[in-house]
Order: sequence, then C-alpha cells, then structure tokens
Amino acid sequence: MLRIREELGDCQRCKLASGRRNLVFGVGNPAAELLLVGEAPGRQEDETGEPFVGRSGRLLTRMLGTLGLERRDVYICNVIKCRPPGNRDPEPDEVAACSPFVHRQIQTVAPKVILALGRFAARTVIDVDAPLSRLRGRDASYHHIPIVATYHPSFLLRTPVMKREAWRDLLRVRRLLAAAPAG
Ligand code: URA
Repeated sequence: MLRIREELGDCQRCKLASGRRNLVFGVGNPAAELLLVGEAPGRQEDETGEPFVGRSGRLLTRMLGTLGLERRDVYICNVIKCRPPGNRDPEPDEVAACSPFVHRQIQTVAPKVILALGRFAARTVIDVDAPLSRLRGRDASYHHIPIVATYHPSFLLRTPVMKREAWRDLLRVRRLLAAAPAG
C-alpha cells in the first residue's frame, strides 16, 4: 500500500491537483475483510487528508457499527483522491487519471467483500454504466470478490427514508462476510 501512495506522490495527473489541500489516499486496515469505496473527498476530507470524516462520514461510521465493525477494522478509500471544486461530479479525464489507483488498492487489500457507496463508486468497481437502482441487490463481483452496492451516506442524509434499504444492503454484507472462506 505504501508503494501505491509513493507512486501517487505529489500527484499532478489531473486538474484537481491545483485546488487540493490534501490528497485523500485511504485509511484503515490494509488487510481488511471489508473494503469501502466512496466517490471523492469533500471539504473536510480535503482539509484533513482522511476519507469520510464529515457528516456523511459520521453516518458511515454508524452504518459500520451495525455490522459490529469500527473504522479501523475496514479499509476506506475513494475512486477520486482529490476534491472536485464545489463537490461537483468527477469528470471523465479525472476518473481516467485516478481510478487505476483505487483498482490497485482493492487488489492489494484483497478484501472478502467490497461495499460500493453510491452510483459513482458502484459504476467504477462493477464497470457497468447503469443507475444505482439497477446495481443494488444484484450479484456482482470484482475479480471474484463480491460487491455490494448501496446508497451513498450523503444521499441517505438527504433522503433518510432510504436508510431502511441501505440496512438491507448491510445485512447482505454481513451474510457475505460470514460466508467467505477463512484466511
Ligand atoms: N464522500 C465521499 O464519497 N468520500 C469522502 O471521502 C467523503 C464524502
């Protein structure tokens, strides 16, 4: 994992570099059984260099709690490592420049389950251009690692009525973790 971070270095591969305060690489257990992928850092993540530390991060920590997990038990990263201005959606050239690194992070952690947070992360790991409604609940895998796609925590903060659905997705994560072979 250190090698990947070193390779990113003071990354200037896309235009997001000029506006960032910190590159947000990823945190947690590099040998985790569960890896979470989000979209891109927001303001607080850009300030601290850590993914999911703002309001949506606090909800994510609670979601992990329902699985009996703490942040340090899992690995958390984003598809895009630098904050898009005004939190706009990442653009195709930014995704093209940055996504090889999230793929390498996933391959290095080699988790038992991947939880993709939101449409953007789900599309990147499942590699299908479809709405989240079609990606949720379907069997998908990344090099034989099962993927569960769920709502992004910031969407859940805006639309709390969907939390029930997200809990269902988390139950699927729990079942998949329990079913995964040990070791
Ligand atoms: N939203 C994301 O997708 N990632 C973060 O790190 C923070 C907010």
